[in-house]
Amino acid sequence: MSAAETVEGGGAKKRVAILISGRGSNMMSLVKAAEAPDYPAQIVAVLSNRPDAAGLEWARDRGIEAHSVDHKSFANREEFDRALHQKLEATGSELIACAGFMRLMTPWLVDQWRDRMINIHPSLLPLFRGLHTHERALEAGVRLAGCTVHVVRSEVDTGPILGQAAVPVCDGDTADTLAARVLSAEHRLYPQVLALFAAGKYDIDHEIARLDQQSGAGAALYSPAVDVDS
Ligand code: GAR
Repeated sequence: MSAAETVEGGGAKKRVAILISGRGSNMMSLVKAAEAPDYPAQIVAVLSNRPDAAGLEWARDRGIEAHSVDHKSFANREEFDRALHQKLEATGSELIACAGFMRLMTPWLVDQWRDRMINIHPSLLPLFRGLHTHERALEAGVRLAGCTVHVVRSEVDTGPILGQAAVPVCDGDTADTLAARVLSAEHRLYPQVLALFAAGKYDIDHEIARLDQQSGAGAALYSPAVDVDS
């Protein structure tokens, strides 16, 4: 288990494990952000359900404990979730950030980490839960797409919304060009939301997450661009 770190001029950093299934670009953005001395979270482990996830090697090279818990070696979802939970506990993690973790979780696992597990999803929830979000956004003809960071609940891609970023849908977009635009917004949004979450800046009341007054609301994004002064 890695040693505890403290925030520059403050208390203990929250110990965070990241769950991935693949390339791990969101994981990388969280790890890089967490290297700042004043970041309120410390990434203590990266776990994947796929042994070949590219992100595992990257994390190890960065000196982070990285393991796979191969879902294929378990008889069922419950057994896999129990093994994953055990591994998470062994890392001393206090929070979990899912970053492209493509496994459905049992309600039991979600319950173990209630209000301590967050996820990023590549759409403006509650629109386009599930897979193929960019194809579906293009088919629906929306002018704004984006990403959402939310607290994990047992129904897939639901839970209190902690943060969202919107990007324009451009004429001529394909699912790939839109995915790339959304992904770069994900890389900016997720580190900021994890920092606020780890610093205890949210209150969750009746499944609505509220941010404390000082933490700001950000600017609106219009598409097509609107002259707000006219
Ligand atoms: C990201 O776009 C993330 O939002 C999405 O998978 C991608 C993972 O990319 N997650 C989901 O669809 C979860 N429902 P990454 O491995 O490069 O971070």
